[in-house]
Amino acid sequence: MAKTILITGSTDGIGLEATKRLAHEGQTLLLHGRNAGKLEAAQREVSSIVGAGQIETYVADLSHMADVARLADEIAKRHTRLDVLINNAGVYKTPHPVTPQGLDVRFVVNTLAPYLLTKKLLPLMNATGRVVNLSSAAQATINPDALTGRARLEDMEAYAQSKLAITMWSRAMAEVRTDGPISIAVNPGSLLASKMVREGFGVAGKDLGIGADILARAALSDEFADANGKYFDNDAGRFAPPYADALDLRKCEQLVEAIEALLTSMKS
Ligand SMILES: NC(=O)c1ccc[n+]([C@@H]2O[C@H](COP(=O)([O-])OP(=O)(O)OC[C@H]3O[C@@H](n4cnc5c(N)ncnc54)[C@H](OP(=O)(O)O)[C@@H]3O)[C@@H](O)[C@H]2O)c1
Repeated sequence: MAKTILITGSTDGIGLEATKRLAHEGQTLLLHGRNAGKLEAAQREVSSIVGAGQIETYVADLSHMADVARLADEIAKRHTRLDVLINNAGVYKTPHPVTPQGLDVRFVVNTLAPYLLTKKLLPLMNATGRVVNLSSAAQATINPDALTGRARLEDMEAYAQSKLAITMWSRAMAEVRTDGPISIAVNPGSLLASKMVREGFGVAGKDLGIGADILARAALSDEFADANGKYFDNDAGRFAPPYADALDLRKCEQLVEAIEALLTSMKS
């Protein structure tokens, strides 16, 4: 039976490639993008692979928490069950690194948005469900002042800290969700040929299929069925220890507390 899979950032790069791969496997796909035109183009491309009845599209800018909440609500209105959530959307370099609320957009899009989206969609996911969180080889100790917008970081520092942060909340969530879904952090492979890599590093990059393959495996294959709380490093091609802070459960829990406090403060 087809699984229902939501992939954020399915309009480009690894997300689009993974969506096409999952379409070839006949899955029901919920495509997400921030740009309606790009989302329509992605939908057209994917519907040439799998029937239009198995594709839905959702527009939301993940740098706005209200959009994230609305995205979750729209999905919950249309679905009673979600099998897999792939938190793929991400940002590295951007001309607008600070949000109107004064936060670094890397923390907002790469860490906070997937946290909130996952939390809101948990009621739709059961013990066999999977949350696949896009991490990176770039991971760096989180400056709490940068997380809350009181300190500014260079692009790579912000990106690496935001990617450690998603790896850490992924681990913390695995500890508390003993009844599922499982959560897995995945470095899809470094310098894969996406717009992020072209624009951010000025290189063409390696085959996007490397990243798409590992996301499809993390979403569906048996080898990931017991991977709750683990980190898969696709540069090494195996489960591996993440950056040291993510191995410290207390630090992971403290980060979740900081994220919760930040999300609460953003509502007021
Ligand atoms: N490529 C690599 O070598 C590599 C390595 C390690 C980790 N990763 C991670 O892999 C994931 C995919 O990256 P990629 O390399 O495929 O980059 P990409 O081609 O730039 O794709 C990023 C996706 O995220 C979406 N996105 C960005 N900001 C958004 C926002 N504010 N709201 C909603 N959607 C937003 C983009 O939408 P648009 O199409 O509108 O831009 C696009 O669909 C990211 O989490 C990245 O950090 C990539």
